[in-house]
Amino acid sequence: MTTPATRRTVLLASGAVALTVACGSEEGGTGTPSDTTEGAGTPGQELVPVADVPVGGGTVLGAQEIVVTQPEAGEFKAFSAICTHQRCLVSEVADGTINCPCHGSRFRIADGSVERGPATRPLPEERITVDGNTVRRA
Ligand code: FES
Repeated sequence: MTTPATRRTVLLASGAVALTVACGSEEGGTGTPSDTTEGAGTPGQELVPVADVPVGGGTVLGAQEIVVTQPEAGEFKAFSAICTHQRCLVSEVADGTINCPCHGSRFRIADGSVERGPATRPLPEERITVDGNTVRRA
């Protein structure tokens, strides 16, 4: 014997579907095109401790939509974390590139240029300063 769906169970089920759609993948919340404004942020905003940015690598700051890299020891760069192909949030920095999970584009950590498409435009550079042990927006 089955119980007919009540209004409450129907609402709960539709809410679960809405949450699934809104959250997308659980793998770091990446792979979803971003619709927020590029370059948003306040000058002086603390981004990341320098110790959290590996030499020859970088750190994706998803909430700030920025990726901070350290191509050489003591040299810090930052780029938009929004892929220039179809605006997915990049997901990782590995082997000298910033990688987009959606279609596989890769961008060089030193200058944001495209190493592998389908993206054709570089990641826009973001202005940062290093203040003691902290990377901040400039
Ligand atoms: S959105 Fe990044 S590769 Fe397509």
